[in-house]
Amino acid sequence: MEFSAPGIVSYYTGPGQFLEILLDNKWSFTVRRPMSIANVEEKHITIIYKIFGQGTTLLAERKIGEILDILGPIGNVFSGWQGNFVPILVGGGVGLAPILNLFKECQKHQIHSKLIIGAKTGREHFMDHEPSNGIFLTTDDGTLGNSGTVMPSLKKVCADIDNPMVFACGPLPMLKSMQDFVIQNKIPAQLSVESYMGCGTGLCQGCAIKRRNVKEMAHSYHERYSLVCMDGPVYSASEVCFD
Ligand SMILES: Cc1cc2nc3c(=O)[nH]c(=O)nc-3n(C[C@H](O)[C@H](O)[C@H](O)COP(=O)(O)OP(=O)(O)OC[C@H]3O[C@@H](n4cnc5c(N)ncnc54)[C@H](O)[C@@H]3O)c2cc1C
Ligand code: FES
Repeated sequence: MEFSAPGIVSYYTGPGQFLEILLDNKWSFTVRRPMSIANVEEKHITIIYKIFGQGTTLLAERKIGEILDILGPIGNVFSGWQGNFVPILVGGGVGLAPILNLFKECQKHQIHSKLIIGAKTGREHFMDHEPSNGIFLTTDDGTLGNSGTVMPSLKKVCADIDNPMVFACGPLPMLKSMQDFVIQNKIPAQLSVESYMGCGTGLCQGCAIKRRNVKEMAHSYHERYSLVCMDGPVYSASEVCFD
């Protein structure tokens, strides 16, 4: 879905940031739905979404010309992809939106990245599997690209590169496997976390995630937990805990 949002675009700082979209004005539906920014072109923003429940169904019913109530841009951005590393971009499920945004940004800056996108089945993919161009699609059911999760493809791509840096967004089990792999192999990585969000402004505490390696004496709630909407959604792989 693409919409004009010049005010939001004027504050946009890069891939990783997201929006909080209000999908109905009813009191029974006050929780905004978070959606990553998949592309920004002049005054226009693109989001890519999958219909899960009531909110995304309402979003899919919006017609051209209607006005959406959107808060944003929210959150931090992927960083370090312009450094001396080869960016390996990994998106799983709806986590592909910020990753495609980063992929386009790399292309704009003529940075040769590798892209790995995972889905349950081939029907969910809308790109081509092009290993010779560094684009690898995976499917859990083996109907398109490499069979299995993104992990075997990631391991292979990383093994073939001297200085990889991983940037990933996807469901928690994927981020957990990725975190284990990059920490074990000392590969720098940034993970964008999709936690359950309410306000998107630091008030409701609904998006809290545990920090890793908290000192024994850390008594403060804020030392133990991070708010994804305020401190994230992008974290260094060694910063947060997915257990
Ligand atoms: C930072 C961030 C970026 C996201 N980017 C995208 C994106 O680009 N494209 C996309 O399709 N989805 C994205 N999501 C997930 C998306 O927000 C949920 O799929 C959506 O809110 C589901 O709403 P629903 O009413 O249709 O489903 P519901 O029936 O309400 O819920 C279905 C499932 O969606 C998840 N969910 C519901 N409400 C929220 C919420 N407020 N916050 C987080 N998860 C929720 C829960 O896991 C729930 O089980 C993102 C989530 C976060 C936190
Ligand atoms: S979503 Fe409410 S504090 Fe983060």
